[in-house]
Amino acid sequence: MTTTIPGLVLITGANGGLGSRLVEGLLESGVTNIACHYRSSTNVITKLLEAHGLPAERHLFQAELTDEAEVQAMGQAIADRLGPVWGLVNIAGRSSNSMSWKLSTQEFINIVHANLLSTFLVTREFLPGMREKEGGRIINVSSVIAHTGIAGASHYCAAKAGIEGFTKAVAQEVASKNITVNCLSLGYFNKGIISDVPTAMLDVIKSRVPLKRLGKAEELFPLVNYLLGQGSAFMTGQILHLNGGLY
Ligand SMILES: NC(=O)c1ccc[n+]([C@@H]2O[C@H](COP(=O)([O-])OP(=O)(O)OC[C@H]3O[C@@H](n4cnc5c(N)ncnc54)[C@H](OP(=O)(O)O)[C@@H]3O)[C@@H](O)[C@H]2O)c1
Repeated sequence: MTTTIPGLVLITGANGGLGSRLVEGLLESGVTNIACHYRSSTNVITKLLEAHGLPAERHLFQAELTDEAEVQAMGQAIADRLGPVWGLVNIAGRSSNSMSWKLSTQEFINIVHANLLSTFLVTREFLPGMREKEGGRIINVSSVIAHTGIAGASHYCAAKAGIEGFTKAVAQEVASKNITVNCLSLGYFNKGIISDVPTAMLDVIKSRVPLKRLGKAEELFPLVNYLLGQGSAFMTGQILHLNGGLY
């Protein structure tokens, strides 16, 4: 697939199940102007970068994204090494499982921070550069369960719903600078956090999806590629649903 992405792309959570497949899609389509964020592990992403002839030490950036100072340091490191960011994909995030009445305050905060606060901090870090350049793309990541709800993930559903509201508000703030902000609301995919779900439950999930299967991680890339490119300039503030018809 050819691409028309005109500047540096930053993928957060790039070593994760979906993040790494996005990076792979970009690399396969010839995009080398890429910054990959990771938190704890680099095993998948390092192999991918090196398989495409890119030195990991140039393209990898470490940060705990709930920590303001670490996000700022990452922003500075990316600017110094690779220059201004054109496209930001906020895909880092995580969940845990607990009924709301058993959920500790700290775990509620942890999940809201890992998804919503991190999206805010990273977005705020790179918006000034995009505003200065008068152009850019921000793609946030939400979940179908922000819309449907699900037992055992009230904190995650609340955080992902928050990302969608954040997306719509920021889209209005920066539209005059030709920066678009959209959000992918994902259904159930075959990589990443889904690996914690027991097989029996996966069968139930698949039976409820009209297309009767999980999304393939590689099915994310074409939409992200579109949103990062010049061709999506008139689309902003949107929540795009990718879920096999589930919602
Ligand atoms: N897979 C699905 O079916 C599905 C469905 C709906 C939405 N999503 C969303 O899609 C995104 C990617 O998920 P995935 O399935 O690919 O999960 P994953 O494999 O667990 O990847 C998530 C990545 O985010 C990073 N991360 C989490 N919290 C972080 C923090 N506080 N600071 C920095 N990095 C952090 C993780 O780093 P570590 O390796 O250090 O933990 C990991 O690299 C998430 O936002 C998730 O909520 C996924």
